[in-house]
Amino acid sequence: MKKILIIGACGQLGSELTFELRKLFGHENVIASDINAPKMDLADEYFEHLDVLNKEELNNIIDKHNISEIYNLAAILSAIGEKNPKFAWKLNMEGLINTLDVAKEKNLTKIYWPSSIAVFGPDTPRKNTPQDTIMNPNTVYGISKLAGERWCEYYFQKYGVDIRSLRYPGLIGYKSLPGGGTTDYAVDIYYKAISGKNFECFLNKDTYLPMMYMADAIKATIDLMQADKEDIQIRSSYNLAAISFTPEEISNSIKKTFPDFEITYKPDFRQAIADSWPDSIDDSKAREDWGWNHEYDLDRMTEDILLNLKRR
Ligand code: SER
Repeated sequence: MKKILIIGACGQLGSELTFELRKLFGHENVIASDINAPKMDLADEYFEHLDVLNKEELNNIIDKHNISEIYNLAAILSAIGEKNPKFAWKLNMEGLINTLDVAKEKNLTKIYWPSSIAVFGPDTPRKNTPQDTIMNPNTVYGISKLAGERWCEYYFQKYGVDIRSLRYPGLIGYKSLPGGGTTDYAVDIYYKAISGKNFECFLNKDTYLPMMYMADAIKATIDLMQADKEDIQIRSSYNLAAISFTPEEISNSIKKTFPDFEITYKPDFRQAIADSWPDSIDDSKAREDWGWNHEYDLDRMTEDILLNLKRR
């Protein structure tokens, strides 16, 4: 039976992925770990404290639980990364290399590591950005993700580590808050709308960005990890896409439920980050190689989020 370790299980993606993988493979077969203390639902004997920079701690957990697969989701995102570039580089790079090394040394079966649309930069074609194109990222987060992609391919080619990766767009969920990204506004806006407040957006109203509902992101991740090894043609990271919209468009989608909802715009340093990223992504390789297909468009996502937040 496979045993999975999630690194960064308390984060926006980690908390939802842990939940879904436990549904699929059994609670006791998915070990959650994080540098932060777990919330109630993760706090049990299947949670481990882990600083991914501490390779010894990582090795001990792998041995203790007989781990065969790792999802390493621990990262510093784009906006926070700009405030502490050296540490963002250290965590994002050394965390990945520690993971790839233990995979090689302990012969683990599979590794998942997320990349991002942040690997692209201001020189990249903005519309329908191809899988292979000019990259030149100009945030430390993007630089670390692009370098990480090269390390992934290197460990696959040199050592046969079965590493799989997706370039996520901005991820939007209602269960937990994101931590310090440029696309976070598209989560915060729903929390404001549901509490009857107006929203001040840190991006301009016409800033297009590629985005994805969390349910689709989880499905993509699990589909990629379940795919046959021979079908995974790309060992750096796959372009992945669902929807693209502007702050004005998401606010109009919310207004269909809350007609009085108001948005105002006060761009800050994150505007330059958003302006360096694509408007939309060509993810045809993911669709061809392992049958990726998204389910949620903007209005369907808005309805689902508002309904679930209301229930709470
Ligand atoms: N959501 C991330 C960020 O905004 C991009 O991968 O930093």
